[in-house]
Amino acid sequence: MLDIPTTHKELFKTIGEAAESINQQVFVVGGYVRDFYLNRLNSDSITDIDFVTVGSGIELAKSVAKILNTDQVSVFKKFGTAQVKHQKLDLEFVGARKESYRRDSRKPIVEDGSLKDDQLRRDLTINALSWNLNPDTFGTLFDPFNGIQDLKKGLIRTPIDPATTFDDDPLRMMRAVRFASQLNFEIEENTFNAIKKMAPRLSIISKERILDELNKIIMSPKPSVGFSLLLNTELLHQFFPEMVNLLGVEERNGHSHKDNFWHTLEVLDNTAKMGGDLWLRWAAILHDIAKPPTKRFSKSAGWTFHGHDALGAKWVPKIFKRFGLPLDERMRYVKKLVRLHLRPIALVSDEVSDSAVRRLIYEAGDDIDDLMLLCRADITSKNDWKVKTYRNNFDRVESKIEEVEEKDQMRNWKNPISGEDIMKALDTKPGPVIGRVKDRIKDAILDGEVANNYDDAYQYLLRIKDDYLDK
Ligand code: CTP
Repeated sequence: MLDIPTTHKELFKTIGEAAESINQQVFVVGGYVRDFYLNRLNSDSITDIDFVTVGSGIELAKSVAKILNTDQVSVFKKFGTAQVKHQKLDLEFVGARKESYRRDSRKPIVEDGSLKDDQLRRDLTINALSWNLNPDTFGTLFDPFNGIQDLKKGLIRTPIDPATTFDDDPLRMMRAVRFASQLNFEIEENTFNAIKKMAPRLSIISKERILDELNKIIMSPKPSVGFSLLLNTELLHQFFPEMVNLLGVEERNGHSHKDNFWHTLEVLDNTAKMGGDLWLRWAAILHDIAKPPTKRFSKSAGWTFHGHDALGAKWVPKIFKRFGLPLDERMRYVKKLVRLHLRPIALVSDEVSDSAVRRLIYEAGDDIDDLMLLCRADITSKNDWKVKTYRNNFDRVESKIEEVEEKDQMRNWKNPISGEDIMKALDTKPGPVIGRVKDRIKDAILDGEVANNYDDAYQYLLRIKDDYLDK
């Protein structure tokens, strides 16, 4: 008997009985079965379950809906598929077919097939596993391509010649890498070689589908597994040339710099270990992205990358746009972290003034803690002593930030003086001069010349206002 959640077992039995009543065979297939054998079935996060039937998927869905007493059935006649909504689940029914399968495909079915025909046109052996649900054979596993063995060996492999599988849907190359990254599996040699050969075919895939897989790779426990595969198969070259450009080390006069590609992956893995969300991870990916064009060598300074923080931040919107990532506050967050990622290091020295700390708190706002996480993730030295020193330095910076924050509360700082106040004091109308005065007050407060409160700031305004009269 299958050791699955009772609610699912009851549901599967109902579906088996529904199929039996219309003389069809039904199987649960794909992610559900795979995740069961991987011990990663999480009933809370399952949103959809795939069923394949030998016969009509639509008739079966209707019969299931009747037994479940629901009218929530969507039929896609042209594609021979139907969906039943049951509690929080989308139950997807499809008739076994001879052509390639993918859930989001909008290709009509041309020819019905057997269960095996259907399984062999799926993407990976581990995704082609299925259990029969009819009453007499409930729970019988069908695994014609040794998917279980591949799960045990940790292998990603296509059921048939990989060239055919990837030709059917080139996104499957990204899916192969994504599953390898999520599960820490290896891609079998033939499958790997086919991806490398066919990587340019990714160009026919929409950016939304590519991004969906890429984000799953980024969110996997150790994203460097996926990114190394993306690099080695040259899939990365198809959609992320800036990242490929980070690869390589140059040496001059005995000086070499670190390889920024592998460094970036270490930083990314570190943010993953810290439980960083998608956006902190994107900041890790992009923090050094503009190092190649800012790279210089001089005898006195060795290798430098001056301005890579500012240039990288400038690139963030165009990279986000190209990938179809959101251009809202999430983009601005990543841009901000890229722009500021070197600033905490500059605050290490004991002589650092409160005003420099205040400025950083002001600029980072509520993202100051995430900025410090990124900086800590950026420590990738192999020298234990250095790692310890850098970490201690950041501990010191963090205490300084806390101290200054407690004193001045600059985190979500708002200028105590409003535009109205300035217009009144200068007896003038709205215009650019108001912004200039406001900035000067802001600088005076951040520099500690003026206390951070209305009265002191207003006195300061009265002192400086003459500089702006008739200007
Ligand atoms: N499938 C396929 N080719 C694709 C996409 C999907 O063959 N390009 C098949 C696989 O058998 C897969 C099933 O459709 O298992 C369901 O696809 P999907 O819901 O996208 O993925 P899951 O395997 O369920 O995994 P996850 O939910 O982790 O994405």
